[in-house]
Amino acid sequence: MSLQAPKGTYDLLPPTSAVHLKVREALAGPARLAGYGYVETPVFEDTAVFARGVGESTDIVAKEMYTFDDKGGRSITLRPEGTAPVVRAVLQGGLQNGHLPVKLWYAGSFYRYERAQKGRYRSFAQVGAEALGSDDPALDAELVWLAARGFADLGLQTTRLLLNSLGDSECRPAYRSALSEFLGGLDLDEDTRRRAAMNPLRVLDDKRPQVQEQLAGVPLISEHLCAGCREHHDAVRGYLSDLGVAFTDEPRLVRGLDYYTRTTFEFVHDGLGAQSAIGGGGRYDGLSQALDGPPLPSIGWALGVDRTVLALAAEGIELTQRERCEVYVVPLGAAARRRTVSLLAALRLAGIATDCAYGGRGLKGAMKGADRSGARLTLVLGDRDLAGDVAQCKDMASGEQTPVALADVVEQTRERLAQ
Ligand code: HAM
Repeated sequence: MSLQAPKGTYDLLPPTSAVHLKVREALAGPARLAGYGYVETPVFEDTAVFARGVGESTDIVAKEMYTFDDKGGRSITLRPEGTAPVVRAVLQGGLQNGHLPVKLWYAGSFYRYERAQKGRYRSFAQVGAEALGSDDPALDAELVWLAARGFADLGLQTTRLLLNSLGDSECRPAYRSALSEFLGGLDLDEDTRRRAAMNPLRVLDDKRPQVQEQLAGVPLISEHLCAGCREHHDAVRGYLSDLGVAFTDEPRLVRGLDYYTRTTFEFVHDGLGAQSAIGGGGRYDGLSQALDGPPLPSIGWALGVDRTVLALAAEGIELTQRERCEVYVVPLGAAARRRTVSLLAALRLAGIATDCAYGGRGLKGAMKGADRSGARLTLVLGDRDLAGDVAQCKDMASGEQTPVALADVVEQTRERLAQ
């Protein structure tokens, strides 16, 4: 067997790769219309960006990072997520000293050494948006609305939004103590106890039934929010209602990253089985300081492109898959092949999507290629046509064929396509 893509990864090949591109565009579209600028950071970072940014108690940092020493002996990690790198880049570029909030969007591949299954990959794609430098709850609502818009623009009907507040440095410590005390009375395995000691909130995220059963009656953060966090959360909920964004309060939603404060949210799709989260995000008011920056209250999200594609399939939504060409050129003979090289360039320069039959195929084989291309018009160039400075223009739907002068073939083609 020839070499295979690594476990937990897959290739994007036509025609389905076009669906992924469309999903990326649709998910990023609303943010781009709302003043978010494009940011691109390296695929790998100093390991400390994630160890300090995402948090040592998370599965991502503890178990899932692709970390290695480079040839210069630096510890490098393939990015498992985009928020910590974006904050690192903003601080490095000094953007926090300019107009705030800094609004950015990104799209790309991320890497986590996870147990591979449908919807959970080791290399996966996200579209993300981050707004740094404001604690205005209207910004929380803006971001949630932008994500909801992206899913709605794709035609998804059954996404659900779960909303929570995780409190801040004022109220979280007391909640942590209450939670730790409660967890101390449970029958938990050694590993879970260790996680609970590092970050008791992680246990709320434990999906195993033997843990979930014991969590009935667990103290909830919603009962421990300080006045500031309560006010912020009420404002966000109010704005979302004004925007007509439906949400469910989910007081046990903690998310898998340690940087969150206050607003947290997740979009789920029930057609996906176990990997139901198609996107998520929240505030990370302390992340800048964890990366040696100044206080920079911020909020953002990342939406999973692979899972959104699966959600579309689950709802039976088909995006147009084919990157269709409009015109297909069939050269017959050496002279025609030579003339075709510049003809293709002229048609493409005129903005007409054009392809041709390569490899000197005969008329029958070349016409099969024309059919498969989905082109509306085929231009056939035989030796006799060339001698008369014409091409035969075939309308693929009607089968009608007419000669077109090569001198104005671009104009003629454009006119016929416009009909
Ligand atoms: P996250 O919840 O870890 O958040 O990932 C966001 C989304 O990426 C998930 O909801 C899911 O759709 C997709 N995703 C995550 N892991 C995988 C995987 N192994 N295979 C396929 N899809 C996956 C973050 O990454 C945060 N950086 C979001 C954020 C931005 N928070 C604030 N700003």
